[in-house]
Amino acid sequence: MKIGNIEIKRFPLLLAPMEDITDRSFRQVCKDFGADILYTEFIASEALIRNVEKTLKKLAIDDHERPVGIQIYGHRIDAMTEAAKIAQEAKPDLIDINYGCPMKKIANRGAGAGMLKDIPKMIKMTRAVVDAVDLPVTVKTRLGWDSDNLIIDEIAEELQDTGIKALTIHGRTRTQLYKGISDWSLIGKVKNNPRIHIPIIGNGDIKDGESAQEKIDKYGVDGIMIGRGSIGRPWIFKEVRHFLENKKKLSEISIQEKTEIARDHFKRSLELKEDKKGFYEMRRHFALYFKGLKNFKPLRLKLLTSMDADEINNILDLIKEQYREN
Ligand SMILES: Cc1cc2nc3c(=O)[nH]c(=O)nc-3n(C[C@H](O)[C@H](O)[C@H](O)COP(=O)(O)O)c2cc1C
Repeated sequence: MKIGNIEIKRFPLLLAPMEDITDRSFRQVCKDFGADILYTEFIASEALIRNVEKTLKKLAIDDHERPVGIQIYGHRIDAMTEAAKIAQEAKPDLIDINYGCPMKKIANRGAGAGMLKDIPKMIKMTRAVVDAVDLPVTVKTRLGWDSDNLIIDEIAEELQDTGIKALTIHGRTRTQLYKGISDWSLIGKVKNNPRIHIPIIGNGDIKDGESAQEKIDKYGVDGIMIGRGSIGRPWIFKEVRHFLENKKKLSEISIQEKTEIARDHFKRSLELKEDKKGFYEMRRHFALYFKGLKNFKPLRLKLLTSMDADEINNILDLIKEQYREN
């Protein structure tokens, strides 16, 4: 797959942009497990152009992550073009525009998935961002606003004509939020439109190698993007790759390995975050790394409340010890 001059020589597995999840530490862990393209969490154009410090920090990327995209969103074209230029200075490999976020405070303002209600503006904004930067620009969106407005197959060509270099489609509408099962049939329709020549990346509900393989076989997408399936399971990229290459499942990861992955992730989180943020932001990940362990409640509570790195590392040792048989 080629996105502008970024070439991925094997079937591409992409880490989905996820707010408060895909920070540098998590991106790097996923990269180590073979994610081919990474994205920052979405970054508000309005905050970028106002130099909000917290937002500017989200632009930080390391060379180790490449190729990596910075995702931006907003409802004003001027703000988006300015934000794209600011993002470009952080030297990502691409800029991605978010037209998929369903959150009320964003979509109801006309940003994120809200743009699916104003296609002329979406096209104008996309073209303006493409023209504003020298990097490849990509778009990530949904099937449409709601089930009465499944428009992605109608607008994909128009989006392509703006000069974007790839299109990622999450197989849900805005009103579905994250509920129900994603519908990939329209993603397949876009992919199989003979006039579409940019890569089409499918997204929604990839949980393992089998689900990835099934979507590739059925819909012919050029790449697969994985979101929730990677939280607490960043090794999913290795699992899926193994399945695609060998047509069989990789054996289940042991608790010992999980513990060391979580420890490495935690270490990076502390190194890359200021103040206490490294602790806070690991909590959601820790909860999912060890989801389903029997009688885990007391250790879980400690793990999710401790603000002491040594204590957390000791808890990880304890998990390793207590669940040895797993
Ligand atoms: C916690 C969370 C945060 C998300 N944040 C973003 C975001 O910042 N930008 C974006 O384009 N999509 C975001 N998404 C949507 C995902 O990128 C993805 O499209 C969606 O979760 C469906 O893929 P999945 O079934 O593999 O999770 C987010 C999803 C979750 C669960």
